[in-house]
Amino acid sequence: MNSLKIHVLLGAVLLAGSATVALAAPPALYTADQAKAGADVFAQSCAMCHGADLTGAAGPALVGQAFASAGNKYTIGSMFTEAAQQMPAGQPASLTHEQYEDVFSYILQQNGYPAGTTKLDYTASLSSKVPLVSQKP
Ligand code: HEC
Repeated sequence: MNSLKIHVLLGAVLLAGSATVALAAPPALYTADQAKAGADVFAQSCAMCHGADLTGAAGPALVGQAFASAGNKYTIGSMFTEAAQQMPAGQPASLTHEQYEDVFSYILQQNGYPAGTTKLDYTASLSSKVPLVSQKP
């Protein structure tokens, strides 16, 4: 086999590999109702530091690759725990469990995760090992 053929083959394998990653749909982890309620929670308790569009202000961005790229190796559990136990900064853990479920659902929605039929659950989310990778640029 000459080296040109090897290069073409290698290219095809790499392409196939990245296509698989891009096509792996993120799981449905929350309901549309939760995300809808979460938009209000976010506007009231988070937007002043994270920006109305989640792109960051005094606090870091909560959307896109700046927030959660594959390389970060975040999980739903690690990020939910930070949100539920450290946020809002200055008044940690001051919201209800339901408000944290809702606002995290909203953040997932804004990052390209689809809504489903099973609700995001506070206790289960704290220890969830599901990877968190934003689907937004
Ligand atoms: C008073 C400002 C302030 C408010 C209000 C606030 N945050 Fe934050 N947030 C920060 C800062 C600053 C950081 C980064 C430092 C840290 O992790 O403590 C942060 C970090 C985060 C992180 C971790 C981001 C990462 O990349 O690790 C999440 C998730 C988060 N906030 C969610 C929320 C949610 C949800 C709310 C509303 C319930 C909220 N924050 C309200 C200031 C704020």
